[in-house]
Amino acid sequence: MQEKQVINNNPIGIFDSGLGGLTVMSSISKLMSKENIIYFGDTAHVPYGTKSKETVTRFAIKISKFLIKNNVKIIVVACNTASAFSLDFLKRNMQVPVIGVIKAGAHEAIEQTKNKRIGIIGTQGTIKSYAYVKEIKKYDSKIKCFLQACPLFVPLVEEGWVENKNKKKIVEDIANIYLKNLIRRNIDALILGCTHYPLLKQTIQKVIGNKIKIVDSATAVAHEVKKVLEEKNLLNDKEGNKKYKFCVSDDPQKFETIGNRFVGKKIKISATKVEID
Ligand code: DGL
Repeated sequence: MQEKQVINNNPIGIFDSGLGGLTVMSSISKLMSKENIIYFGDTAHVPYGTKSKETVTRFAIKISKFLIKNNVKIIVVACNTASAFSLDFLKRNMQVPVIGVIKAGAHEAIEQTKNKRIGIIGTQGTIKSYAYVKEIKKYDSKIKCFLQACPLFVPLVEEGWVENKNKKKIVEDIANIYLKNLIRRNIDALILGCTHYPLLKQTIQKVIGNKIKIVDSATAVAHEVKKVLEEKNLLNDKEGNKKYKFCVSDDPQKFETIGNRFVGKKIKISATKVEID
C-alpha cells in the first residue's frame, strides 16, 4: 500500500465505537499538546463489544476511509474490540500508519509484572479474540494470562453510575464479582482492555488492592503514537493553532453531554453528525 503524503499539522485521527475512546484522545492531547485531532465516535453502532469480527471490521474500514479523506496523518483505533478484530486488516490496507491499543497495553503490562501473572479485562469480543494474550506471548511465552469479560462495565460508565454517590456501592459490588477470580489467581498486573475502564480505575483499584498494578492502555497508546510520529518526523511543532473536531454517526447532543465527562475540563466537545455509509 502506497503511503499518503501528509504534513505535520495534519490531524491525528482517532476512532472508537462511541464515547470511550475519548479517554485515549485525552491522553494523546495531554502528551502531544500541539496536535490537531479528529475524533470519530460510531454512536449509531455502539456497542462493538458484543458484535462479530466481520461487522466490527466493516465499520472500522468505513471510518478509517472517512478519516483518511479528512487528511489524517495517522489513525488510532482507540477501541479495544476494533483493535482486536480489525487492526491487521487496517494496517495492511490504509495509506497512513494505523495504531491499535492492544500492543501498547500488552507491553506496558509485560514491563509491570514481576511474577509473570497478568489479568486482562475487556468486552466479550476482546476477551474471546485472545488478542492481548497473543501479543504478550509473542514477547514472553512464560507469562500466564487470566481473562475476564466485564460486559456490565460499559453501561455503568455510560449511565454515569460510577460518579453517582448513591450507586457507587452497586458498581463496587459488580466489580467485586468480576474481579474476585483474577485476584485469587495471584496476578500482579491488570490490563484495562476497554476504552471505558479507565473511568472505573478508582473502583477497580479499591477492589483489587494496591499490590496489583493497573495498566491503562490509554496512556500507553499515547506514547506509542508519539513514538511513531517522531520516527516519521510528523510531530506538529506549530504553536497556537490546535483544532479538535468531533464527529459522530448518531445524536451529537448525547455524545457532547456524556463525552465531556471523559475528557476533563480542558477540552470542550462540540460534535457533528456525519453520514459515512
Ligand atoms: N470501545 C469498546 C472497547 O474498547 C467498548 C465499548 C463497546 O463495546 O463498543 O472495547
